[in-house]
Amino acid sequence: MEKERSGSEPPDWDDRYRKGYHDGADEPHDLLVSHAGLIPAGGRVADIAMGQGRDALYLASRGLHVTGLEHSWEALKLAGESMGARGLSMDIVQGDAERLPFKDGSFQGVIVFYFLLRQIAPDIAATLDRGGILIYETFLKRQNEVDRPRNPAFLLDDGELLSLFPGFETIHYNEDVHRDRGKVRATARLVARKI
Ligand SMILES: C[S@@+](CC[C@H](N)C(=O)[O-])C[C@H]1O[C@@H](n2cnc3c(N)ncnc32)[C@H](O)[C@@H]1O
Repeated sequence: MEKERSGSEPPDWDDRYRKGYHDGADEPHDLLVSHAGLIPAGGRVADIAMGQGRDALYLASRGLHVTGLEHSWEALKLAGESMGARGLSMDIVQGDAERLPFKDGSFQGVIVFYFLLRQIAPDIAATLDRGGILIYETFLKRQNEVDRPRNPAFLLDDGELLSLFPGFETIHYNEDVHRDRGKVRATARLVARKI
């Protein structure tokens, strides 16, 4: 695993994936596994910044129509390979989450794991159909107290994730510091329905 850089320099995600970032992290996130059943069967779901597709492919395996958006070509290559190896299908889109290439109301579910561009929260909300389910988990600023330094611009304040999605009914929300597969994580987790 690459030693990750600190400070405010943007990460080179292609380089990270080439060097084995996410090796051994093929399982879907627990929050997704515990709440995926809320997304209507056969519905359309977007995974924003899907990485190598661990969560997108889990949803595809449940019969959902998944669109995975990701900026890194290396991650997309890995996602495509996993998809083929597992005999699954999904739409893979190379793009920038800052300009979401989706029409309003396109999805019955949107998932975001370990990615934060707070200014696109209204766009994420808009891509969901009314009644659609948002599943979102990412780091809190408190992560910097328990791990290597990350750019705080991409970390959440306590309570912030909830406040980014007004007009949603909260199904689950928690913030904590916990151990996940040997790593300490300070995260916020939100599951919410668009009203
Ligand atoms: C920490 S990884 C999380 C990947 C995946 N969601 C997961 O949890 O396994 C963050 C991902 O965001 C992607 N990314 C960073 N900036 C992006 C952008 N502007 N648009 C789309 N993807 C982006 C990176 O390439 C990387 O795959």
